[in-house]
Amino acid sequence: MAIEVTGLVKTYGETRAVNGVDLTVAEGEVFALLGPNGAGKSTAVEILEGHRTATAGTVRVLGIDPETGGRDYRERIGIVLQETAIEKELSVREAIDIYGALYPRRRPVGELIEIVGLEAKSDARIKTLSGGQRRRLELALGIVGDPELLFLDEPTTGFDPSARRQAWTVIENLAGLGKTILLTTHYMDEAQALSDRVAVIRSGEIVAEGTPETIGGRADAATVISFSLPPGTRPPGLGETLEEGGLYVMTAPEATSTLHRLTSWAVAEGVELGSLRVEKPSLEDIYLELTGEAAGE
Ligand SMILES: Nc1ncnc2c1ncn2[C@@H]1O[C@H](COP(=O)(O)OP(=O)(O)OP(=O)(O)O)[C@@H](O)[C@H]1O
Ligand SMILES: [Mg+2]
Repeated sequence: MAIEVTGLVKTYGETRAVNGVDLTVAEGEVFALLGPNGAGKSTAVEILEGHRTATAGTVRVLGIDPETGGRDYRERIGIVLQETAIEKELSVREAIDIYGALYPRRRPVGELIEIVGLEAKSDARIKTLSGGQRRRLELALGIVGDPELLFLDEPTTGFDPSARRQAWTVIENLAGLGKTILLTTHYMDEAQALSDRVAVIRSGEIVAEGTPETIGGRADAATVISFSLPPGTRPPGLGETLEEGGLYVMTAPEATSTLHRLTSWAVAEGVELGSLRVEKPSLEDIYLELTGEAAGE
C-alpha cells in the first residue's frame, strides 16, 4: 500500500477537522477526495504530506510516518498545495530551478515548462502571471522532483477548460508511469475522468468510498429518462412527471423496456421526443445526495 491511514483525527480547539478517517491507497492508484468546503480534505492531505501533525491515528505513506520522515520522505513525494507562497519576483524558469535543486532526481526545466504549457511565460516574473498560469507553475513545481507519490490539492482550480484538459493529460501521464496520486477536487468530471477510486468526506468523516462508477450505489441506481413534447401534446402516461421548464422525467429500473414503450408510443402518435436523454445519476448527483447539498435540503 502506498498510503495507509487508520483512525486519523485532527482537532483545532473545538473543531474536529478530521474525525476518524481510515484510508488506503494502493501503489499506482489515483485516488480523489471529494467533499464540501471545510470537510477536512486539505487537513487530511497536509497531514499525509507531513505539513501538519495528527491529533490521533496512524499514518504511513510509502511505508514512512510523514511526521518523522524528514528529507528522505520529502524527496519521494511531490506536493501541489491548495495555496502556496512562492517568491513572486522569480521568473517561472528560476522558480522551477530553485525548487528542483531540493531533489536528487529532478526533471529538466524545459520539459516541465512544456508539460504545463508555460513556454510563452518561462521568463516572466511570477507576479505577472494570471491565476491559472500560477497554478500551472505550481503543478510543475509539484512534479519537479520526479516523485513516486503526488499530492494534488485542487490542482485545476482556476484553470480554463482547455488548461484543465491539459492538466488531466499531465496527471494521466504521471499515473501511466505508475505514480500514486492523491488529489482533491470540487470538479466531479475531474474525479470521474482521473480517479480509480474516490471517497466523499463530510465534516471530517468519510461517508462513501468506491470507484466513480459504483460509489453510493450509482451503478445500481435506476436510469432516468427525460424528454420534452411539442406544445399541446398529451403525455404518454407511462409514469412520467412534468418538471419545471417543461421536461418530462421518468425513473426506470428497467430502462430498455421503459424506453421501448416510450418510443413506441411516440412513433405511433407521430410525436418527436425532444431533448431525449437516458442516463444514470451522475457522480455529481450522487455527491450532492451524499453531502446533503441537494436542492431543497
Ligand atoms: N489552521 C487551522 N486552524 C483552525 N482551524 C482550521 C485550520 N485549518 C483548517 N481548519 C478548519 O478545519 C476544517 C477543515 O478545513 P480544511 O481546510 O481541511 O477543509 P477542506 O475540505 O480542504 O475545504 P476546501 O474545500 O474549502 O478546501 C474547517 O472547519 C477549517 O475551518
Ligand atoms: Mg482544502
